[in-house]
Amino acid sequence: MKVLVTGGSGYIGSHTVLTLLEAGHEVSVLDNLVNSSAESLRRVEELTGKSVTFHQVDLLDEAALNELFASEPVDAVIHFAGLKAVGESTQQPLRYYHNNVTGTINLLRAMDAHGVRTIVFSSSATVYGGQNPYPYIEKMEIGSDNPYGRTKEHIEDILSDLGAADARWRIALLRYFNPVGAHPSGRIGEDPLGIPNNLVPFIAQVAVGRREKLMVFGADYDTPDGTALRDYIHVMDLADGHVAALDYVASHLGVFRWNLGSGIGSSVLDVLHSFERAVGHELPYEITARRPGDLPAFWADPSAALADLGWSTTKTLDQMCEDHWRWQKNNPQGYQDA
Ligand code: UD1
Repeated sequence: MKVLVTGGSGYIGSHTVLTLLEAGHEVSVLDNLVNSSAESLRRVEELTGKSVTFHQVDLLDEAALNELFASEPVDAVIHFAGLKAVGESTQQPLRYYHNNVTGTINLLRAMDAHGVRTIVFSSSATVYGGQNPYPYIEKMEIGSDNPYGRTKEHIEDILSDLGAADARWRIALLRYFNPVGAHPSGRIGEDPLGIPNNLVPFIAQVAVGRREKLMVFGADYDTPDGTALRDYIHVMDLADGHVAALDYVASHLGVFRWNLGSGIGSSVLDVLHSFERAVGHELPYEITARRPGDLPAFWADPSAALADLGWSTTKTLDQMCEDHWRWQKNNPQGYQDA
């Protein structure tokens, strides 16, 4: 298949582009580079020996989008492009809704106008919100707790309505849990802008000497060690999940939802200690107050993805941390080192 990947130079996007190329697909990437570097794709080309066509286009630019679909026909789209910082989304809700929701509407209109009606969408476990018991299952009523999560929820609703209105669409909504790790080569990985919000990138920057210590947000949760539990998933497993979902919708019309997670809850201290094993020594940390908006625990029920796609995670938390550390150690300043 010829696949257009929006947000393809970002963290999950670049690993998915690599996996698509290795599975024999042709790939072009659309990205506005607001939070990513085209260096990631240069390295994907180096790792795969295959080329990627790159278009620096913003989804808010409808004319450029239509030109792209007219000049380069594709069979399917994998849609990652979007803003993703929860805290920032509470400060700048209009920017988040405009960029993520309007950008997606523009993309879908351009796809429809050019007869491309197969899409795999990068949603998030965040759509389940705080009201659901865990493990999360796809048929639960969704309702996110923050503007970023609500952009994912609105896009899921838009895609569901589109699938209901026009039976020609093939739509996969992928709800990711907590993606970490990197390609085992250590050549591509997560390169957050500014101070990382997420746990593993923060620990990695402590390990490489860019941050003094990890702040553990709360050790008074009702969990085995008092720190919060999450379902961490290796980015290469996640990338495989996208290819499996794409293959599935290529032969099935309709709208499908799958959790992509391991089904295992790991605590903040489990992750820290796993990362310490990868690095080979202890890392400094301090227990601080809970982060507002954090849930005590959640993880996936990944059985639907196994049943429908034959997909399940293969990599352990230690492998995630080893691969994440290899990337960070070899690229202390991320792609800026290039
Ligand atoms: C966060 C987002 C979620 C988003 C996901 C993307 C919030 C409330 N949720 O999920 O919407 O989809 O990232 O990956 O921001 N932690 C620390 N110290 C740190 C950073 C994190 O103790 O410096 C803890 C957190 O309190 C949490 C766990 O580590 O218990 C994981 O945090 P994080 O990586 O930010 O992921 P989520 O909060 O699950």
